[in-house]
Amino acid sequence: MSVGEDNVSSVKRQLTQLFEISLRETVPGEPDVVPLVDSCSEKSGVKHGDYQCNNAMVLWAKIKGKQTGFRGPPAVGQRVSLGATIRLLPRNLEPTSSNPEKETASPLAEAIMKNLPPSEIIESCSVAGPGFVNVVLSKNWIAQSLHRMLIDGIDTWAPRLPLKRAVVDFSSPNIAKEMHVGHLRSTIIGDTLARMLEFSHVEVLRRNHVGDWGTQFGMLIEFLFEKFPNPEEVNEAAIGDLQAFYKASKLRFDSDSEFKLRAQQAVVRLQGGEIRYRNAWKQICEISRTEFHRVYERLGVQLEEKGESFYNPYIPSVLEQLGNKGLIEESEGARVIFVDGVKIPLIVVKSDGGYNYASTDLTALWYRLNEEKAEWIIYVTDVGQQQHFDMVFKAAKRAGWLLADDSLYPKATHVGFGLVLGEDGKRFRTRNTEVVRLVDLLDEAKSRSKTAVLERDAAKDWPEEEVDKTSEAVGYGAVKYADLKNNRLSNYTFNFDQMLNDKGNTAVYLLYAHARICSIIRKSGKDIEQVKKNGKIVLDHDGERALGLHLVQFSEVVEQACTNLLPSTLCEYLYDLSDIFTKKFYSNCQVIGSPEETSRLLLCEATATVMRKCFYLLGIEPVYKI
Ligand code: ARG
Repeated sequence: MSVGEDNVSSVKRQLTQLFEISLRETVPGEPDVVPLVDSCSEKSGVKHGDYQCNNAMVLWAKIKGKQTGFRGPPAVGQRVSLGATIRLLPRNLEPTSSNPEKETASPLAEAIMKNLPPSEIIESCSVAGPGFVNVVLSKNWIAQSLHRMLIDGIDTWAPRLPLKRAVVDFSSPNIAKEMHVGHLRSTIIGDTLARMLEFSHVEVLRRNHVGDWGTQFGMLIEFLFEKFPNPEEVNEAAIGDLQAFYKASKLRFDSDSEFKLRAQQAVVRLQGGEIRYRNAWKQICEISRTEFHRVYERLGVQLEEKGESFYNPYIPSVLEQLGNKGLIEESEGARVIFVDGVKIPLIVVKSDGGYNYASTDLTALWYRLNEEKAEWIIYVTDVGQQQHFDMVFKAAKRAGWLLADDSLYPKATHVGFGLVLGEDGKRFRTRNTEVVRLVDLLDEAKSRSKTAVLERDAAKDWPEEEVDKTSEAVGYGAVKYADLKNNRLSNYTFNFDQMLNDKGNTAVYLLYAHARICSIIRKSGKDIEQVKKNGKIVLDHDGERALGLHLVQFSEVVEQACTNLLPSTLCEYLYDLSDIFTKKFYSNCQVIGSPEETSRLLLCEATATVMRKCFYLLGIEPVYKI
């Protein structure tokens, strides 16, 4: 698929287009050069510009030996046809210089710079170092972009990705087994990825690939029949804790060979579609589902369940297709697919003739590509499943379902994440129970944040409902942000005290920062909608300019976070935004009562708007008062 509509809201994209034109003009002999444009980091210290084009160095190394040279710009006032080559450079800097020590790509960079078409985005350009072209953006243009966004809405800043539809397979707990912190991570990360893609104009099928099919159901169903001979009696209250039910049935399964036999037959009867077995299976699934939903509801996460069982009827024909392509071999009684670079094969039919996790995943992938017509299929699980997905994707490539080149659509990506650790550095567990129940965890997050909210003077006369809402926003937001801010591949340590700290890189700090900005606007007594209509943004102070620049970079950051499937990129942007607002802008630029009040209120509003969109994309509810 070709690259879609251009994302005109992204500064980086617009500059890339300008450099593309310049490069075509400067080095017509190198039509494949892709412009390398990036924003200059504040953190790197010396900053010659806001953006930088880094093509000259590599290009110079490539062309310097060639006779072709490059084209300088037309001299001022002189009309030159596009094909003309003009040498403006002193002889000793020409591309054929024989002293490599002294060579730099600066002359080429100068030419690239001078060939840039005129643009309202750019204030000035310069060449630095061995050949970087630095760009300083026009502050008027930044101001206008901000103002336009305030009037037309932040959705006009949504990036455009080159695809229409994606599947995000996330959360995906297993029926009757515990939904553990690993599933919580998958739920949080998957929801954010889905939100970012949806914002970027991609239709997202949010799939809950629950483990609702497998041999464990024989055991569960037989145990259910034993405990409740009358199916009418089966309900959540009677069964109680499904995990305890699972454990008890497993105990029975392991200790009684007669029961075990019945359980194995029950699987066959269930899979054969016998009604009594199907109904018992449905009852068990329903109870689990209710429990999962409690967690999703609290976290504000939408998911559509298409569990393993959904794909079951499609497995035989998909395997037949793979068999016809010669992919399936016999190995030790099982049917398997070998893939490059992995010694063990992917088992697609077990030696007892049954299907497994891999047969289901291959079929689900086929279904998503062919029936659902998804172009990007994203799987969010712990890194432990990396090899499984690697093998499934490689098998799909052998089958010709996916392209060998992962930069092209349709494609499949495994989004792995690390473990959740307790403070002892081991897997996260509670003191008394083995696994942490997610509902308890969220309860604790809420009650701890409630205590903190109530300690604030301002909250003293809030109605109970408001205290509750704020505590939930802050508590659940803290849990989500603590997870999302890390590079997902690393393990992260779950620590309530840290995540609920109102200083440092936490959701609490960010939510309060947002609320403070809202209160500045409220305190001004101005109707911000009127200010938007009649006011004008001016970025004369360095602090104002730095804030404005960071704000207009929102679109490209979301695009980058989507492309790399890294929510931490967005967290970092949000934290920097809050930091720049406070340290560069607010501490140096008086807002209320200053001559620049109108413009500065608009900057406050733009900051709050972008922060709220970041919160939304991270699945965090904003707070307006503290
Ligand atoms: N149920 C699996 C687990 O708990 C996760 C499923 C992930 N999705 C998939 N298509 N395999 O580990």
